[in-house]
Amino acid sequence: MQPYDLIFNKRNGGTLQPEEIEALIAGYTQGEGVTDYQMAALLMAIYFRGMNEDELGHWTRAMLHSGVVLEHPEIAGAKIDKHSTGGVGDKVSLSLAPLVAAAGVYVPMISGRGLGHTGGTLDKLESIPGFRTDLPIERFKAQVAELGCAIIGQTGEIAPADKKLYALRDVTATVDCIPLIASSIMSKKLAEGLDGLVLDVKTGRGAFMTELDQARQLAETLIAIGRATGVETVARITAMDQPLGRAVGNALEVVEAIETLRGKGPDDFLDVVLTLSAEMLRLAGVERDHQAALELLQGLIDSGAAFGKLREMVSAQGGDESVLDDLERLPRAKESFDVLAPESGFIHVLDALVVGRTARMLGAGRKAITDAIDPVAGLVLERKRGDGVDKGDRIAILYARDHSLFEPAAHRFLSGLVIGEAPIGEQPLLIDRIA
Ligand code: URA
Repeated sequence: MQPYDLIFNKRNGGTLQPEEIEALIAGYTQGEGVTDYQMAALLMAIYFRGMNEDELGHWTRAMLHSGVVLEHPEIAGAKIDKHSTGGVGDKVSLSLAPLVAAAGVYVPMISGRGLGHTGGTLDKLESIPGFRTDLPIERFKAQVAELGCAIIGQTGEIAPADKKLYALRDVTATVDCIPLIASSIMSKKLAEGLDGLVLDVKTGRGAFMTELDQARQLAETLIAIGRATGVETVARITAMDQPLGRAVGNALEVVEAIETLRGKGPDDFLDVVLTLSAEMLRLAGVERDHQAALELLQGLIDSGAAFGKLREMVSAQGGDESVLDDLERLPRAKESFDVLAPESGFIHVLDALVVGRTARMLGAGRKAITDAIDPVAGLVLERKRGDGVDKGDRIAILYARDHSLFEPAAHRFLSGLVIGEAPIGEQPLLIDRIA
């Protein structure tokens, strides 16, 4: 295999053969025979030329097999996971994993950290004192088999090709390329050893894919990879124009996720949790009728079974389960600041990207993956899109350790708020389903 020839071929619109892809990914991951500059050139060629469905399947499979692929011989039931393409206030995994496990489905979830304006499940969970997201793989597998769910971070053993390729894409302007995004996501998720996968592809101002047609294209590409690798995959496209739920920020989002499993969550958040969970139950064969699945799941919240499963998961992963009974025991900011409506009217825009950036300014997010985050930082929205407000009404409460952050953060927040005179209609949250 001569990398030059393969770059030349792809640059000219040719197709890479399965054995060429395998040799490229293996050589690059092991640092043998494929240099960074050759892979960078190839990624750029892929950026412009794309990959057909076969190439993409082989590319993803090669990335997947660059590391450990989990097997769960001790689990007889279906292993199903959910992946979100990321957004603001998206704490779905925290409520969904225990809820779906309470329905008898096994959820081996390997999650990520927040970057940029988006939050990450691991950062949120780590605001529970003692909670460990770095369980060794064997303990992770044992917990899934025993309790039905576990959430950990990616280890060096899972899809190492993606780690190297992602770092290279990051510095060569090749991140925003649908086949490369899709293979990156699927190589990590498929390494969990799944029978089915539900995707939450976000679209709108605060999403990776701001336009609906891009989101659809990404969903279709992800599903095609699922098909090529024999894992049934279904996607929901959901709105991310404004934050999901009311809380944005790590410990604040944990509170909202816990409240939701106690039956007191915000409607929009609950809607997304239940819809995605119902898709998981369908893939697992537990309940194939969507409405019946929603009712079953609501029953598991009402009975306390889902909350009980969350308690088991927190305890098994070393977290202080007393926070579940007393939310005051979670880290809390000493300082807060009210953002008031600058005029009367109806909220037309509550820009998720701006809100995410505001939370990051307060300390809830990072600029680089090595930055520390502040678990107490963030904000809680008291009003959302479509709500009527009078001038001076409180729209959001900001939280931070350092009160000097409040003025600039409030200024940033207000730059993403549009109040109009006329009432506006609801925007659909569940935009499409692609299977
Ligand atoms: N998330 C991933 O895991 N990979 C990408 O390329 C983009 C988002």
